[in-house]
Amino acid sequence: MNEKQRLESQQIRQGNSPDVKSETNENLNRLKKLSSDELISKYFQTTYEPPNLKKARSRRKKDVDIHYDFDIPLEMKAAGKGKKFLIRTYGCQMNEHDTEVMAGILTNMGYESTDDTNEADIILLNTCAIRENAENKVFGEIGHLKPLKLEKPDLILGVCGCMSQEESVVNRILKKHPFVDLIFGTHNIHRLPTLINEAMFGKEMVVEVWSKEGDIIENLPKVRNGKIKAWVNIMYGCDKFCTYCIVPYTRGKERSRRPEDIIQEVRHLAAQGYKEITLLGQNVNAYGKDLDIDYGLGDLMDEIHKIDIPRVRFTTSHPRDFDDRLIEVLAQGGNLLDHIHLPVQSGSSDILRVMARRYTREDYLKLVRKIREAMPNATLTTDIIVGFPNETDEQFEETMSLVEEVGFESAYTFIYSPREGTPAAKWEDNIPMQVKKARLQRLNALVNKQSAEAMKKYEGQIVKVLVEGESKKDPEVLSGYTERNKLVNFKGPKSIIGEIVEVKITNTKTWTLDGELVESVVEVN
Ligand code: 5AD
Ligand code: SF4
Repeated sequence: MNEKQRLESQQIRQGNSPDVKSETNENLNRLKKLSSDELISKYFQTTYEPPNLKKARSRRKKDVDIHYDFDIPLEMKAAGKGKKFLIRTYGCQMNEHDTEVMAGILTNMGYESTDDTNEADIILLNTCAIRENAENKVFGEIGHLKPLKLEKPDLILGVCGCMSQEESVVNRILKKHPFVDLIFGTHNIHRLPTLINEAMFGKEMVVEVWSKEGDIIENLPKVRNGKIKAWVNIMYGCDKFCTYCIVPYTRGKERSRRPEDIIQEVRHLAAQGYKEITLLGQNVNAYGKDLDIDYGLGDLMDEIHKIDIPRVRFTTSHPRDFDDRLIEVLAQGGNLLDHIHLPVQSGSSDILRVMARRYTREDYLKLVRKIREAMPNATLTTDIIVGFPNETDEQFEETMSLVEEVGFESAYTFIYSPREGTPAAKWEDNIPMQVKKARLQRLNALVNKQSAEAMKKYEGQIVKVLVEGESKKDPEVLSGYTERNKLVNFKGPKSIIGEIVEVKITNTKTWTLDGELVESVVEVN
């Protein structure tokens, strides 16, 4: 960590405060009556400056440091020898990939992975803050882990990920779950060895959350989940500030990795035999905007197109930045798959305006037409929020009609969830929850119908499937995804796991396809 980071960091340390973990019940009851500020000043020597939403909004494009010098401090290099770790991941692919990085760091410290909470020496909850129910799940899990922690005081229990970037969450953990050992934010992952050291030897709760915009650390180790598909971060953060969304605050500003670093990682994955990569970013279409060169996602995809890896996906796209260059490059096909996830959020231009999405219904439809012209077989999927504050029946109907007009083959649908600190959370909302639930049900029924119809068209067709393994429901059955991301179940020898094979579809369901293996291994062009 350099001096600048040190100054900008908002590290919280308990210093010579009482040991939170050994608080008696009586003390805990007293604690519960304290305000957040009182709690903070009681426990922390340094001034606590919480993640600051106003500051996040005024951030500048410059000042991203790229580091290539990550190393595990000498004293922590063997700290995990003979010990086990478990990371529970909530939320999006970005979190899954962060978990792979944390697993890489812990493995390099000598820890082994386990699925059993009882044999873990360190348990990390990598959390998601996107909706309230995601947060509730995590608080539920912290509660479940309390007896284990009390039974095994040496167990290190940590909370990280997006929720840790929220002041209210940090306060709630301090107040109600003082047995937690470690809280760290999304910008602090590379500090894990040092934080564990402090949690191990300090016998105090360690909290380190930086609300700064975040740097890029290039050489972090990773233990990838499997040898077939891999995530590749191309950028971090988001500068869009949609009025409902917490991500720009929890993940920092948009910052792109250098193209050469990404290409090197993809080449390396290809050489290791990975069959599919997914380029990741909160808003991948903004890739390159912050670089000092004229280079965008289209340019990057064009270079990746030439690498010998059979399948390349990317997520998540923002319609506003989906430019002609990218469409032109995607239209080349080859390893660039024609499945595009393009979150629309609403079909009403008025709602889109108050969501600050920066496009209208017509803009979105125009973009869809352009994509379809260039890629006639492209599959489109989306994200939709219903029950945004004061969304009228007519505005909701516009979402329904847009779903039909575009013909989305699937959609992630959500009821709006107010997130503290976002503009929309402050607005009055005159739509009762029953109305929102009824809208979600109608929308889901329409999406299911469209998905089933799209699946029907595959009946009798031969599709290429990347075989991922045994099906979750039946170990006798193999499963994998088509180029257009449809899950296919079929019987075949285990030896084809990790290969791309041809499967003839014999039966279609709403979300999955059943089929028969046509031939063993397909050559990929
Ligand atoms: N409430 C409901 N859904 C949300 N999303 C983001 N923020 C919220 C919120 N506050 C949804 C959006 C986004 C997806 C990842 O989660 O649809 O695209
Ligand atoms: Fe959130 Fe996506 Fe909007 Fe960024 S673009 S603020 S991540 S919904």
